[in-house]
Amino acid sequence: MCALLSGGGYAERVAVPAGQLLQVPAGVDLVTAAALPEVFCTVWSNVVMTAGLRKGEVLLVHGGASGIGTAAIQIGRALGARVAVTAGSAAKLERCRELGAEILVNYRDDDFVEVVREATGGHGADVVLDIMGGPYLARNLDVLAMDGRITIIGTLGGRDAQVNLGAVMKTRARVTGSLLRRRTPAGKAAVVAEVCEHVWPLIESGAVRPVVDRVLPMAQAAEAHRVLEAGEHVGKVLLTT
Ligand SMILES: NC(=O)c1ccc[n+]([C@@H]2O[C@H](COP(=O)([O-])OP(=O)(O)OC[C@H]3O[C@@H](n4cnc5c(N)ncnc54)[C@H](OP(=O)(O)O)[C@@H]3O)[C@@H](O)[C@H]2O)c1
Repeated sequence: MCALLSGGGYAERVAVPAGQLLQVPAGVDLVTAAALPEVFCTVWSNVVMTAGLRKGEVLLVHGGASGIGTAAIQIGRALGARVAVTAGSAAKLERCRELGAEILVNYRDDDFVEVVREATGGHGADVVLDIMGGPYLARNLDVLAMDGRITIIGTLGGRDAQVNLGAVMKTRARVTGSLLRRRTPAGKAAVVAEVCEHVWPLIESGAVRPVVDRVLPMAQAAEAHRVLEAGEHVGKVLLTT
């Protein structure tokens, strides 16, 4: 089994409510399975359960090469959406393209509002999955299509933002956010049940795959943190005991 934890993932043993357990998908080994619950529960609950991404819509994923981003690209494609991503290097954008992203924006060189608008014939993004928070909110509103949805799951850039409410009204924007950890056990179980029903078959068929950058022994946890902080990874970094 693998599990969606409520924290404490560095422990050697952990207790979770039964509703947070998932059968390891067929064809996935136990270590690789550790890469699945957190990212796919986060992506599914935000992009699908909250933002309601539909076939044919445009999904913009910030940090496309992150653990969350690599899962979001694949879920977006599996649902029949066009996927746009931001990432910080050409090599990472290429990895995103291999996973199914179509519109690629190097956030160091280009403005994602301009690139996504141009690539979609002015339409913009129907759903934005955001990890940057404050500094990206105004531009996330600018890139939004009519009736667009922004779902904020991280504040890597900061928590404060100033917003022109005209931009919210203009597109009938919906701005939401969530923290998986803050969901009750029943709330987590509801997400896990949907992920088992809808995502696990995609993993078992090979349409969606875990993206693991490297696996390190627990004794090298400091090295794992160094890799993450330096941004050297694409997807997940796993620790084993
Ligand atoms: N709310 C929830 O329930 C929940 C659950 C899980 C995770 N999260 C959050 O989701 C975020 C991603 O987690 P993770 O583990 O997948 O992270 P990660 O693998 O460490 O990746 C962080 C990403 O941030 C990107 N980034 C940095 N500056 C950026 C910018 N200016 N524009 C666009 N992207 C930028 C990096 O892109 P480059 O490497 O290309 O520079 C990198 O891909 C974190 O903030 C985490 O706390 C939230």
